[in-house]
Amino acid sequence: MENLDELRERFRRQAESVADRDSWEALRLDWLGRKKGVVRSLLSRIGEIAAEQRREFGQRVNELRREVESGLEEIGDRLTAREREASLVARRVDVTLPGRRPRQGSLHPVTRVIAEIETIFAELGFSVAEGPEVETDFHNFEALNMPPDHPARDTQDTFFVEGGQVLRTHTSPVQIRTMLARKPPIRIICPGRVYRHDNDLRHSPMFHQIEGLAVGEGITFGHLKGTLEAFLQRLFSPDTGVRLRPSFFPFTEPSAEVDITCPFCHGSGCATCSQSGWMEILGSGMVDPRVLRNCGIDPDRYSGFAFGLGIDRVAMIRYGIPNIRLLFDNDERLLRQVRR
Ligand code: DAH
Repeated sequence: MENLDELRERFRRQAESVADRDSWEALRLDWLGRKKGVVRSLLSRIGEIAAEQRREFGQRVNELRREVESGLEEIGDRLTAREREASLVARRVDVTLPGRRPRQGSLHPVTRVIAEIETIFAELGFSVAEGPEVETDFHNFEALNMPPDHPARDTQDTFFVEGGQVLRTHTSPVQIRTMLARKPPIRIICPGRVYRHDNDLRHSPMFHQIEGLAVGEGITFGHLKGTLEAFLQRLFSPDTGVRLRPSFFPFTEPSAEVDITCPFCHGSGCATCSQSGWMEILGSGMVDPRVLRNCGIDPDRYSGFAFGLGIDRVAMIRYGIPNIRLLFDNDERLLRQVRR
């Protein structure tokens, strides 16, 4: 019986020195463990106690057990509270720090210019048509009045694919595909990627064009000029001057090169326009009667105009990008700079 008082004292002393989960667990095993715990071994030795003392012994052992249990529970609760506190401190959030903005994506300058041009032409009654980037010789050259030995093919030196197909050198083959598939009236624009064996500061082997085509009865050069003026003044600024110079394309007759007053100096002359005040922006003309005939359209009844515009040039002018390759490097710094 005295021994039990001693045990109780021992438990209290040990309980005082518990500092963490591990020593708490060790204490619990020492006292309440199923195999070697103090309480269990006391109970298993009850047979050694004189019969008349057994009852009291049992009661006192049970008291000891209750005290051990509640002591352990109390220390356990204290440890839990301390652990929670420590984890809150560790995960403390400094609400005074500046926020971290999520990085937002944006449209590529070329994508943006295409969307803008599509909007303008939609208002003029044009719809969007597309064609394949791997083209037949027929659609890319032949039907556009460029037979195999035609010198105009030299300016479109290109990439040939096995089987005689080409990576299209311009978006003009979409004219052919559209006229073969549909009858006039036709009003389309055709944006897309084109390919040429060219690579310097102003040329990339892959670049973008938009083709325009209008075919119907009574379409004149005046319609071409009016449409391009309306378009270019919307795309650049209302005071943009537009000038047509005689030119040659195998698929148009007559043909015209179209200049706008320089968007940087508005015509007074600067380094970008080589002091001329003008900038060449697109090629155009009246669809050659032979091209119409190649597509099964009667040139005595129908006429049309067409034009082709380099989109990358427009994006470079619009966003002040000096080198065409910057458009295709996918350097996020460029994309961030042109973001509105
Ligand atoms: N296809 C020509 C080129 O890539 C551009 C062009 C000029 C298209 C005149 C036309 C046009 O439709 O009428 O250089």
